[in-house]
Amino acid sequence: MGGAVANQGHVGRLNMERSMLVLGIESSCDETGVALVQTRAQGVPVLLAHALYSQIEMHQAFGGVVPELASRDHIRRVLPLTREVLTESGHQLQDLDVVAYTRGPGLAGALLVGAGVACALGAALQKPVLGVHHLEGHLLSPFLSKDPPEFPFVALLVSGGHTQLMRVNGVGDYEILGETIDDAAGEAFDKSAKLMGLAYPGGPLLAKLAEEGDAKAYALPRPLLHSGDLDFSFAGLKTAVLVQSQRMVAAAGVAGFEALSRQVQADLAASTQAAIVEVLLKKSLKALQQTGLKRLVVAGGVGANRSLRLQLNRACQERSVQVHYPELHLCTDNGAMIAMAAAMRLQTGKQTASTTYAFDVKPRWPLDAIA
Ligand code: KG4
Ligand code: ZN
Repeated sequence: MGGAVANQGHVGRLNMERSMLVLGIESSCDETGVALVQTRAQGVPVLLAHALYSQIEMHQAFGGVVPELASRDHIRRVLPLTREVLTESGHQLQDLDVVAYTRGPGLAGALLVGAGVACALGAALQKPVLGVHHLEGHLLSPFLSKDPPEFPFVALLVSGGHTQLMRVNGVGDYEILGETIDDAAGEAFDKSAKLMGLAYPGGPLLAKLAEEGDAKAYALPRPLLHSGDLDFSFAGLKTAVLVQSQRMVAAAGVAGFEALSRQVQADLAASTQAAIVEVLLKKSLKALQQTGLKRLVVAGGVGANRSLRLQLNRACQERSVQVHYPELHLCTDNGAMIAMAAAMRLQTGKQTASTTYAFDVKPRWPLDAIA
């Protein structure tokens, strides 16, 4: 959004005097999400309704997201999902006070669909619009749960494209403590899963297979575990998984990984998951120790991983650290987190919405670049 905020006074007054209805639209990758959140004079905004359409099945045939197909499908889904959310919440388009959308980071064409629809709705309704940072949406998604965290906290943001540890002092006040220097944790899951012949996105499937396996079966590298800083590196892990799987195939004298016994496959999946989880766990504990904070928030798709949750829960309990997660179904991309981030930015006065409707999107956008 440009700097001009034609309707600032109007939005500011609404913010102070009564609650606002904020529609949120997510379209940065392969999920179309729409949600309605209501701000309150005090306390965390409330989720009234949300609807989601996942394109995963469509992209599976190609082994990954096809950007052009993603954009076209967002176009098909976004208005029906908006209608669904309005019906479910008992509201009408005219009731909306602000229309929020994911401005970035993400696939340019996919982002443009959400931004275009949000700005068109805003212009037609004469209501302001607001562009949201996708990762801020993930970061604030635990505020949609029944037991929302309090500021400040350490955040472990683990998605398909990002892996970061942050000190979060308040809405819009994010200090990056460490991040991946190559692949994200979700990518490590997905790329390893692909080597194992699992469908896209392989993370949840690898996690499921791992439940039947022995996590100590194969010694895989824990990259940067003892680096002394809070950075991550996962690119080497997939190579180690590839080499290990080739050794296993050769030893068994079979044609490929798929021909190995289910137990052996599960052992490699469990060993891979253990390597990723151990690094995420140890670095999160180090961040807590370094900051002296006693609260941890885990967000992003990999935050749905059961083994990660179990191990973090155990370690945090031993250290009297409170750990918060988004509800399982809100770990991966959704509209609720975008509406929530927008509502929290408006409610805290961190941002105003705009009626210029001259949108742009930011496919690459570091989280610490937003105020
Ligand atoms: O946050 P998200 O929906 O999308 C991005 O913003 O990137 O995260 C998607 C990532 C994928 O890499 C997916 O494989 C991973 O989250 N993921 C999981 C699990 N559920 C989703 N990884 C491991 N275990 C899971 N249960
Ligand atoms: Zn995401």
